[in-house]
Amino acid sequence: IPWNEVALETAREVEKEVMPLFGTPKAGEAIGENVSGDVTKYVDKVAEDVVLSRLQPLGVNVVSEEIGFIDNGSNYTVIVDPIDGSYNFAAGIPIFAFSFAVFKGRKPIYGAIYEFVTKTFYEALPGEGAYMDGKPIRVRKPERGKEALSFYTRGRCLGLIERVKRVRVLGAIAVELTYLAKGALDGVLDIRNYVRTTDIAAGVLIAREAGAIVTDEAGRELELRLDATSKTNIIAVNDRYLLDMILEEL
Ligand code: IPD
Ligand code: CA
Ligand code: CA
Repeated sequence: IPWNEVALETAREVEKEVMPLFGTPKAGEAIGENVSGDVTKYVDKVAEDVVLSRLQPLGVNVVSEEIGFIDNGSNYTVIVDPIDGSYNFAAGIPIFAFSFAVFKGRKPIYGAIYEFVTKTFYEALPGEGAYMDGKPIRVRKPERGKEALSFYTRGRCLGLIERVKRVRVLGAIAVELTYLAKGALDGVLDIRNYVRTTDIAAGVLIAREAGAIVTDEAGRELELRLDATSKTNIIAVNDRYLLDMILEEL
């Protein structure tokens, strides 16, 4: 299966269906609750329906943020967030993306994130590298005292704010992980025990391939659970010293 084509074509079709709803009250209407107990907005449903009808003919297993796990007895599992950052989308804040990761058994074989507003396509080819619109990307080397961190802590770890220069909370962790991968941020931290694999799978693959260190709250290599409901903490950084600094503050 040519995963890069499936990912990009699906993203483009989602884009076509959802972009007319950008910043509209309709997009944010609550229409139900998803498998992890979060609100499903109208736009989430529109986007997910596109994804499911695209993937269905492939006969693969699908883990998608709203509907959960669809087991087709396949060796391949696609972990999708049809739109990460749906609050931003409905509110008219232009930071949200399509997130798509493929596993063969438990092994990651492909990851992609498509940022709708900038039309940027990020990919991870495990073992080969990370790419932005086909060109290789790498994390940057942080400068001490000049770090920029994305930061979801629900009041924990506040000492860290004083130890870095910039704090950003952009509201779409998939996008924030690509920013780490391309050297626009130095770290992404979410320690609310809130993110699910659908939020981070592709972003973790892309960040890792770009050279990031991605761990759990204890500083151990983060393992992605291939389901729709487990929640996790994540620390993703471009340098060991930043990981140590964060662990010290936890
Ligand atoms: C959300 C985004 C956000 C994170 C939230 C998620 P959604 O996903 O990833 O960055 O802080 O925890 O729920 O619901 O917009 O797909
Ligand atoms: Ca999400
Ligand atoms: Ca979502």
